Amino acid sequence: MPTITNTRDDTRFLCEPGDTVLRAALRAGIGMPYSCNTGSCGNCRFDLVEGEVSHLRDDPPGLSEKDRAKNRWLGCQAVPGGDCQVKFRTMDQYVPPVTPARRGAELQSVEPITRDISEFAFRVDGAGAFSPGQYALLTVPGVEGARAYSMSNLAGDTWRFMIKRAPGGAATGWLFDAAPGATLEIDGPFGTAFLREDSDRDIVLLAGGSGLSPMVSIALGAVAAGLHDNRKIHLFYGCRETADLCTPDVLGPAQGKVGFTAALSDPEDGADWEGPTGFLHDVVRDQMGEALKDCDLYFAGPAVMSAAVQQMAHEAGMPMDRLFFDEFY
Ligand SMILES: Cc1cc2nc3c(=O)[nH]c(=O)nc-3n(C[C@H](O)[C@H](O)[C@H](O)COP(=O)(O)OP(=O)(O)OC[C@H]3O[C@@H](n4cnc5c(N)ncnc54)[C@H](O)[C@@H]3O)c2cc1C
Ligand code: FES
Repeated sequence: MPTITNTRDDTRFLCEPGDTVLRAALRAGIGMPYSCNTGSCGNCRFDLVEGEVSHLRDDPPGLSEKDRAKNRWLGCQAVPGGDCQVKFRTMDQYVPPVTPARRGAELQSVEPITRDISEFAFRVDGAGAFSPGQYALLTVPGVEGARAYSMSNLAGDTWRFMIKRAPGGAATGWLFDAAPGATLEIDGPFGTAFLREDSDRDIVLLAGGSGLSPMVSIALGAVAAGLHDNRKIHLFYGCRETADLCTPDVLGPAQGKVGFTAALSDPEDGADWEGPTGFLHDVVRDQMGEALKDCDLYFAGPAVMSAAVQQMAHEAGMPMDRLFFDEFY
């Protein structure tokens, strides 16, 4: 099993066969920076000092020509060919709260939520801990590369995921065609945008489309921990048209304890809709006003929404350490 040495602080960790440098580091409890785990964001770049690695994914978007010229690689895609010396900074915020592990999983059920989002329930092998808001990597049979999906429930032997069908999508195509009993591998948990129970601030949850999944998990976790007794918790859900709407019962046992607002960005002509319209970040800013800057803000959704929310939060005077998010690529 290859040994990876981080020359920046002389720490060493083992890399199981087929594991990436990032996943091996996280399994060893090392805080290697990352976000998407699928080669898109570039947060997991490292310098290769000595040894050989190869990328799982050809030409990952998170790596530039300049990076390649400097012998930089992506931790989430790089598989070592033997012992390696690498260089990357570590940060405590990336030390996993739960050690990620690979597990077999069997599809139990699929429940529709909107016209193109369904909730998939998988029974996982062994005890499956995760923090509300985290995600897992699903390796779908016949599809090259794992895909990230955020859990929508609380940890246990069933992990649920709210998944949006991507037009022509490889992994979602398989998932939406799968029948109960279908099996795949789940690796996780990953992600740093999990519920912080030790904060005493009100909680705003902001979900764009399938970003609903981790926000529902956080709402469930907050209510299970009794945080709603002395903190306001509100979920804002943004989607395009009325067929994309969900109702507050998506919150399950957190319904009634967590506020719920849905907003449509582009309602169809003649839509039967009296709720807010516009981009979700504008709706949140207008409805929360001055109170927003004193809240913890969790959000999930497409990268374009994430950028707009960060800008809105910055303009509202929110300190960055009150923002918790994963971008969906
Ligand atoms: C942290 C995170 C959490 C997410 N959570 C959710 C969620 O809860 N619900 C949800 O519906 N979606 C979620 N997504 C998006 C999801 O991972 C997929 O991008 C989406 O379902 C489309 O996948 P597809 O295979 O159907 O589409 P395709 O169009 O076939 O694949 C596109 C996606 O796969 C990636 N990809 C392509 N080739 C490879 C490869 N070889 N290796 C690795 N990645 C590759 C692309 O970068 C792109 O993101 C999340 C994404 C991230 C990064
Ligand atoms: S590119 Fe590796 S974590 Fe995003």
